[in-house]
Amino acid sequence: MKRGEWVVLGLIGALALAGVVQNIIHHEKGAQDVDRGLPFYTTATPELAREGSDLIRQNDCRQCHSLWSVRNVMQSVPSPSLDGMGDLRSEAWLYQYLSSPHPQAMLPSRLKPEYRMPSFASLPEQERRTLAHYLASLHVKDWYLDDIKKSEYEKLTGKDDYKK
Ligand code: HEC
Repeated sequence: MKRGEWVVLGLIGALALAGVVQNIIHHEKGAQDVDRGLPFYTTATPELAREGSDLIRQNDCRQCHSLWSVRNVMQSVPSPSLDGMGDLRSEAWLYQYLSSPHPQAMLPSRLKPEYRMPSFASLPEQERRTLAHYLASLHVKDWYLDDIKKSEYEKLTGKDDYKK
């Protein structure tokens, strides 16, 4: 090839490469704009996450509550989601609530008795502590916090007039 041809070829190559790079950058930016990822996360250690999930399974909490936005297919009880519980309640409150012989004294219910939050006062203390610890580790990202508060309000009150 002549020298001039090499230059042209080089230019074409450089242009093609620039196009590819620009495409990649553009794509990444676009993806960030649209997909902010899952709003839920936990700060639990792997050990606490395992113990907490085991207790939630053993005690059938998902019969009424969703967690990680997943709920039992049979569930129809309008109870608040457990996602983001650590941004709504303190660990001390959660422990007290799970230990109360009558949870509705702490958090009134609008539901029929069979759908209300049952008392878990008879669970061993250590299990109630682990559950409270795990629930307090469940968070939502800032941009989703208001959605979680709104959803909790609607579930607990049955009203749709939530205000920030
Ligand atoms: C029979 C259905 C049912 C089961 C099973 C159940 N819950 Fe609940 N839970 C509710 C309902 C309904 C509420 C809302 C208060 C009410 O109506 O009594 C609630 C409220 C809560 C709250 C407070 C929510 C808030 O917004 O502050 C927490 C925390 C909670 N439950 C955790 C659990 C955990 C952990 C388990 C398993 C160990 C569990 N629940 C099992 C029905 C249930």
